[in-house]
Amino acid sequence: MSLKKISKEQPSDFEFNKINMELANKMVKNYPEGKQQSAVMSLLYLAQRQNNNWIPLAAMKYIAKFLGMPYIKVYEVATFYSMYNLSPVGEYFVQVCTTTPCMIRGANKLVEACKEKISENENELSTNKSCSWMEVECLGACVNAPMMQINDDYFEDLDKEKTLKILDKILSGETPKPGSYRGRINNEPENNRKTLMDFKNA
Ligand code: FES
Repeated sequence: MSLKKISKEQPSDFEFNKINMELANKMVKNYPEGKQQSAVMSLLYLAQRQNNNWIPLAAMKYIAKFLGMPYIKVYEVATFYSMYNLSPVGEYFVQVCTTTPCMIRGANKLVEACKEKISENENELSTNKSCSWMEVECLGACVNAPMMQINDDYFEDLDKEKTLKILDKILSGETPKPGSYRGRINNEPENNRKTLMDFKNA
C-alpha cells in the first residue's frame, strides 16, 4: 500500500521556470474555454519534474492560482495519486508494485530486498543518500509481475536475487538494464509458446 507523507520541510515559494511556463501554457490551451482546471494533473507533474521529483505545498498553491481553482482541489488531486511525491525522494527512486498480481508472484521479496539494500522504512534515503523506495499500487505491467519502477524505467519478471543485483548497481551509480529479467521481449510468452493449447490442462 502506498504511504503518502507531506514533507515537514517545505520551501516558501515555487514558480515554473521559463521552459515549464511555456509548456504549462500550452497544456492549458488543450482544454476548452472554462475547462482549464482539467490541466491540473499535467501541471502537478511538471512541478514535480522541476522540483527534484517531489511536489511542495507551495507548488500546489501556485498551480491553484495558475488555474484559478481552490487550493484544496489541487491538494486533493496531489494527495490521491501515488505518482505524485509529496516528500523528497532519492535521485534513484524505486517504486515496488505490491498490488495483488505482483504480490501473489512474490512482490514481498522485492520489498525485502529494498529494506536490506536501501532503508528499513519506505520514503527514507539510503545511507549514501542516493536512493529511496516505496510501495505503490498497480503500475500496469501485471503480466510481467513482480516488477518495480526506477525513475522512468520498468524492471520486470523479478525475484529477490535479481532485485538485489539491480539495487547494488544503482547504489554504486550504475544504470541497470530495464525490461524483463527472464529474457522476454516485452510481454511475449516464454519458450516460444504460440497458444495455450500447447499445454495439457491449459
Ligand atoms: S499488479 Fe503489479 S503491475 Fe499490476
